[in-house]
Parts: sequence; structure tokens; C-alpha cells
Amino acid sequence: MEKVKEKPMNEMPVMNENEGIVLFYPNVPKTAIEEVTKVLQGRWIGQGPRVAQFEKEFAARFAGNGTALAVGSGTDSLHLAYILAGLKEGDEVITPVFTCTATTIPFLYMGVTFRFADVDPDTLNINVNHVRQLVNEKTKAIVCVHYGGLPCDMDELHAIAREYNIPVIEDAAHALGATYKGKKVGEISPFTMYSFQAIKHITTGDGGMLVVQDKSLVAKAERIRWFGIDRSNKQKGIWENDITEVGYKYQMTDIGAAMGLAALHEFDETLAHRQKLFEVYKKGLKGVAGIKLIGATHTDRTHAAWLCTAIVERREDFMKFLRENKIESGQVHYRNDRYSVLGGRRDDLPFMDSIEDNYIVLPLNTHLTEANIEFVCDTIRKGW
Ligand SMILES: Cc1ncc(COP(=O)(O)O)c(C=O)c1O
Repeated sequence: MEKVKEKPMNEMPVMNENEGIVLFYPNVPKTAIEEVTKVLQGRWIGQGPRVAQFEKEFAARFAGNGTALAVGSGTDSLHLAYILAGLKEGDEVITPVFTCTATTIPFLYMGVTFRFADVDPDTLNINVNHVRQLVNEKTKAIVCVHYGGLPCDMDELHAIAREYNIPVIEDAAHALGATYKGKKVGEISPFTMYSFQAIKHITTGDGGMLVVQDKSLVAKAERIRWFGIDRSNKQKGIWENDITEVGYKYQMTDIGAAMGLAALHEFDETLAHRQKLFEVYKKGLKGVAGIKLIGATHTDRTHAAWLCTAIVERREDFMKFLRENKIESGQVHYRNDRYSVLGGRRDDLPFMDSIEDNYIVLPLNTHLTEANIEFVCDTIRKGW
């Protein structure tokens, strides 16, 4: 702890779980270890029957009438979604400025131009009014991210998309299990993606899922996930040995799918636990001066409780004070226009500017208990 005080904030060392209350911790059920062991002893360790089973069970749970395609990462699924949405070099899209770089980077692979939309200061989700200002005849898609697990204003985004006859692509990397006006995230838009990276609700080590509502896109999605090859034909030995479109190596492995299936079977408990922890934060920080939780007031949508984010006064002091009390906190995501490769700083994002130095993510992971969160809230209530 002494060392921490001497260092500038951006050099604060990562905290180990035995040092206090950490931001993130992977959620790997015991059954995952047994299931992975079986896979490792069998014939299929790459993409095989477990992947198919995971896709089937995931779709039944989250996709409505859509199809789920398991891939190697959430980023892979975003890239696939952008291709399947028909985006190509020179096209323009609207995408949130505040997100993981994974939402934006695939546009660079494709030569797609993007316009960053500002945040809604109450949720840090995409600001619908700004999307309205940005949208024009050149816009080919709207991308939204359900920040922290709270769904965006989907009705409003869909209304804009309908007017311009363009798709909404949902980045639901944080939002597994969230609902919007009674509908599951996953059944609302033509494309919805999820991430199973190490610290998500469900992890496959690294992995992702793309839910596609249009069945006519599934065969193409499966091909471009695998070099452009029709894998099932190849396996039957009748493949004519031609590839006519650019594909990638974006498949999930049976090792990952075995982890994913085990976690999916426990998902209801995982989600309920995380949501309960979020409620403890809401109660514990209600009315506390100098801190306001983000996305904690909506009644028409449910929060998947992946992140607990707050706007705080004097963020640096707040982080130091928490760390002195053995509580980790962090920013997690940064405005994407801070990166040169993404075009650098824009000057038309006043809400992002206004929260940039004040948002902070508090510990929320499946291993934490209600008592842990109460301790965090008690500590914050002492003042920093
Ligand atoms: C909002 C968001 N989108 C996309 C991704 C990319 O997912 P992955 O790390 O599985 O590629 C992440 C994070 O990991 C994310 O937080």
C-alpha cells in the first residue's frame, strides 16, 4: 500500500485477490473443469460437437428466433457482424465513442469510416440525440454498446434506423441476460454480439457469440468464420475445393465451448448474484455526497450488472482512498478518440468531455459477496 501512494495513478499496480477486493475475477464453474477434461480426452478439441451444442443452447436462451454462431472472441463477432451487415470500404457508420476499442477497431480492418456519437451522461450509453444529429444518407449502420450491462434506448435507435433503412448492431459484450421492455437483448436487432473473454459473465477463456436474426445470412456467416470454406461439405469429402470470398479463422474450440456450456448452465444464478450485488451498491450509495451511480434508475430495462460505474468527485483521491482500504477501482474503458489509430481527439463530444475525468468502475464480480460490497459502500461513505 505504501508503494501505491508514491506512484502516479496510471502506474498503480494490479491488485491480487488476496490483497483485497478486486475489480474482476474469472467465473469458472467447477463443472467446467470436468467438462474440459472430457474434451481433452476425446477426439474433438477444436470446433466440434460442443461448439454446436453451445450455439444451440445459447440461441434457445437468448436469441429468440435467431441463430447463434460461436467464435474465437467478441471482436471476431463484431467483425463478422459488420461484414454480414454489408459494410464495405468507404461506408460510414455511427458508433459510440465510449467503449472497448474492440467495437471500433474492425472498421479499420474494413476501411469503413466511423463517426463517434457522444454518451448519454446518465448511462454512458450512446446518446440518441447525437445519433440523430449525425445520421445522414451516407450512414450504413448504427452500432450501440450496452455499457456496463444496461441496454441502450433501443426504441429510439430503431426508429432512426428504420427511417434510414439501416441495421442496428448491438455490442452486448457487457449485457448477457439484460432485457429491454420485456425483450431479451439478443432478440431485438438484426445483429447482437457477446464476449466470453476472461472476466465476462460467462468465459470460454476468450470467445464470443454472434446472434443473427436473418437465417439467410447463416451459411455465409459459417463460411467466413472458417476461411470462406463450407466446412460441413468439406467434412463429407465432397468439397469442390474453391473459396470464393474472404474468410477468417474465427471459430470457437470445443475446449472453450465446454467451459461456456458449464457456465451457461449456471447462468441464472450468476446473473441473479451479480444483480443482487448491484442492488447492494444502489442501496449503500444512495444519497452519498460526491458519488452517483450510472444507469441505476431505469425501470423499463434490466441491468446485466457487469460493471458498476459511478461518477465521482476528485477521482484520483477517490481511487487512492479505496486502494488504501484494499479496494481496487479503475476506468476499464477509455473514450476511443484518445487513440491516434482511431483518428484522435474530436471536439464535438461535450458529454464525454464532462464525465471523462469523473467516471470510475467499482468492484463487481461473481466471486464477491454482499458483505464485500457493503464494505466498499461503508468505506466510500466515510468520505475521501
Ligand atoms: C464493449 C465491448 N465490446 C467488445 C469487446 C470485445 O470482446 P473480446 O475481448 O471478447 O474480443 C469487449 C471486451 O472485451 C467489450 O467490453
